[in-house]
Amino acid sequence: MRRVSSKDDVSRVCAEVRADGCTIGLVPTMGALHDGHLALVRAARAQCDFVCVSVFVNPLQFGASEDLGSYPRDLDTDARLLAAEDVDLLFSPGPEEMYAPSHDVMIDPGALGGRWEGEQRPGHFAGVATVVVKLFGLVGPDRAFFGEKDYQQLKIVQKVVSDLDMGVAIEAVPTVRDADGLALSSRNAYLGADERRGALALSRALRAARQLSASGERDAHELEKAMRGIMDTAVDRVVVEYAAVVDAETLEPLAALDRSARAIIAAKVGSTRLIDNVALDAAGGRR
Ligand code: PAF
Repeated sequence: MRRVSSKDDVSRVCAEVRADGCTIGLVPTMGALHDGHLALVRAARAQCDFVCVSVFVNPLQFGASEDLGSYPRDLDTDARLLAAEDVDLLFSPGPEEMYAPSHDVMIDPGALGGRWEGEQRPGHFAGVATVVVKLFGLVGPDRAFFGEKDYQQLKIVQKVVSDLDMGVAIEAVPTVRDADGLALSSRNAYLGADERRGALALSRALRAARQLSASGERDAHELEKAMRGIMDTAVDRVVVEYAAVVDAETLEPLAALDRSARAIIAAKVGSTRLIDNVALDAAGGRR
């Protein structure tokens, strides 16, 4: 695996690879890699000739009171994991390399960016969209791989690529969960043992919503009530920010499950903010 940290180097290596007729898969990450990231890498490895993984903790997507300073960073471990997955290129720039002091252009993520996470974390998706567009510009991938765990991010990246005619295929990779149901996230590292038990309320609530929809419940309000019921009776220190049933494409709240839908949840467990989601089958079947 080659390692580069400058924009010039990543662009040069990727241009050479493209000139050789190889397809390029990009997996953008912020490091602290876990099996969820490795599922993205494996999907890229299976579909592309050349796999580039970026590790960059993007300051533009953190709010002033968020965890930019304490976000877990362990580049040596990340590099070992990526080399074992047969990744071709690791791009790990520093913030000064990615953003010149004069940088002030931001990508507006549109209406999708203002809902749910966008309401709780103003500016977050503009930061995500901006770094993703920059990475696409530097690497020139044929395909880029994003997890369904960050479902709103996935939808926004798809919309940005489509609206800006970027010609990158966005591949969605299913959420990877621990055996007990907790969706893998780098922020799970912040959870103490009791908090981790409390955090299971998110996946329990989503499972309940999916089971209700699979058994024919079409009233979105009933699903939301069931999710909140589970979250509210979970061990203390779980504070729900939202638990909603939304259109799977526009993320608008639904009254009835009459189209492709998603149940989405955000909650604070102690001081750690977690998000999760599942697909709901509007036809009443399981997915
Ligand atoms: O999902 C993430 O880790 C980040 O939001 C991403 C897509 C790498 C952009 O910084």
